[in-house]
Amino acid sequence: MTTRNMNTGFEIGRGALVGPIAAIEATTLDESAATRAAGGETERIDVTLAVNGQMRSLTIDPRTSLLDLLREHLALTGAKKGCDHGQCGACTVHLDGRRVLSCLSLAVQTDEHAVTTIEGLSGSDGELHPMQQAFIDHDALQCGYCTPGQIMAAVACVEEGHASSAEQIREYMSGNICRCGAYVGIVAAIQDAAPKMRRT
Ligand code: FES
Ligand code: FES
Repeated sequence: MTTRNMNTGFEIGRGALVGPIAAIEATTLDESAATRAAGGETERIDVTLAVNGQMRSLTIDPRTSLLDLLREHLALTGAKKGCDHGQCGACTVHLDGRRVLSCLSLAVQTDEHAVTTIEGLSGSDGELHPMQQAFIDHDALQCGYCTPGQIMAAVACVEEGHASSAEQIREYMSGNICRCGAYVGIVAAIQDAAPKMRRT
């Protein structure tokens, strides 16, 4: 059987309609799934991860970012929500020892992995990490909003072997923005802390 398309004048077979209709139905299904998800009906998922050396098990919406898991579910508010779009570095934490932007990381991806935040950087006796102490010693902050992310990135910068010169530090810290412009102190703090970290 053929049908004349009144808009185009083309004659099309019935079979040719199956694809577009199927596509429309699929789109409708996708949209209704999206609508359900927007209404908060998404299936929740169990995750277990080590946060600052402590095992934590949670049931979360699969869309939860690692940053929201830390701040909203675990009350670890050290990592900051600056841009929430991967552009400022305020949310930097370590995942299995490597720096990540927690606003761009899905919490479900951290299942069975280890996360370290600024709260977990100092020793169990409360002694500050050499990088934390160096930030204080060099006045490497003003308002302090970017500082937890700066320190986590700075520790990673040294551990990656990217702190051999001021120029290299600036390059590998370039993803962390400081609106107060404390960059001179930040670079000085990293240069001060790097040899102390290597000794520990
Ligand atoms: Fe994650 Fe800005 S809050 S990069
Ligand atoms: Fe204020 Fe960096 S110290 S944004």
